[in-house]
Amino acid sequence: MPAQRTAHHTYTSTTPPTFIPQAAAPIASKDKDSQRLIVVLTQACLETHKVPSRNGAQGDRYALLNCDDHQGLLKRMQRNIADARPDITHQCLLTLLDSPINKAGRLQVYILTAKGVLIEINPSVRIPRTFKRFSGLMVQLLHKLSIRSVNSQEKLLKVIKNPITDHLPTKCRKITLSADAPVQRVQDYVTTLESDESICVFVGAMAHGADDFADEYVDEKIGVSQYSLSASVACSKFCHGCEDAWGIM
Ligand SMILES: C[S@@+](CC[C@H](N)C(=O)[O-])C[C@H]1O[C@@H](n2cnc3c(N)ncnc32)[C@H](O)[C@@H]1O
Repeated sequence: MPAQRTAHHTYTSTTPPTFIPQAAAPIASKDKDSQRLIVVLTQACLETHKVPSRNGAQGDRYALLNCDDHQGLLKRMQRNIADARPDITHQCLLTLLDSPINKAGRLQVYILTAKGVLIEINPSVRIPRTFKRFSGLMVQLLHKLSIRSVNSQEKLLKVIKNPITDHLPTKCRKITLSADAPVQRVQDYVTTLESDESICVFVGAMAHGADDFADEYVDEKIGVSQYSLSASVACSKFCHGCEDAWGIM
């Protein structure tokens, strides 16, 4: 059984740690053997852009490019407004890190951005609940390449080297979630894994487009619903299936 974890790790000195004694220590990302779920949020739109300083303040200011705040900028760059959706990644991260499977220490999350930047998320990080604060954190990460905890030397978010397959357990089935693939009940699908086999799931963190973003890595594609879902709901459904298959309540 994994050891008990005592606190969420935070990245601001102003926020006191929240004690959650029931959460288990996560499986280390370097562990090549323990069975777990790995979610890769793929095609994530996380891109920083220089924007005008506020109230004539000195120095450059950067923001996470997004379709609500930067419509004019996106138009001038001749970019499709619908592609600038970092909020989808934010929503998925909240869903995944709040899930029972994460609290049980059996989830690992990575982000692969549309520009090819691979990010490892420490399972104990507390993702900001508001988009504005999430945006500030991501700008900091993309510029400094890592974010450390204030309580320890531990890195909470870090840019790592591609390809993702170098970071996966030795025995790991790799699949893409897609509404275009045959639908399977997640719990039934997960029980087909061997007891020492992990599963890595690629989910499209974008608004539109074909689910071919991980074709170079995956063994197969599966649908989890007869409906087209948001990325966050697809993540949630897969987590619930694993929780049911692995006895996590
Ligand atoms: C909004 S969809 C992305 C684009 C989608 N292909 C489209 O054009 O509408 C977000 C992601 O959620 C996942 N997804 C959505 N519906 C799904 C389903 N029924 N079964 C499995 N995964 C699904 C896929 O990974 C997909 O890339």
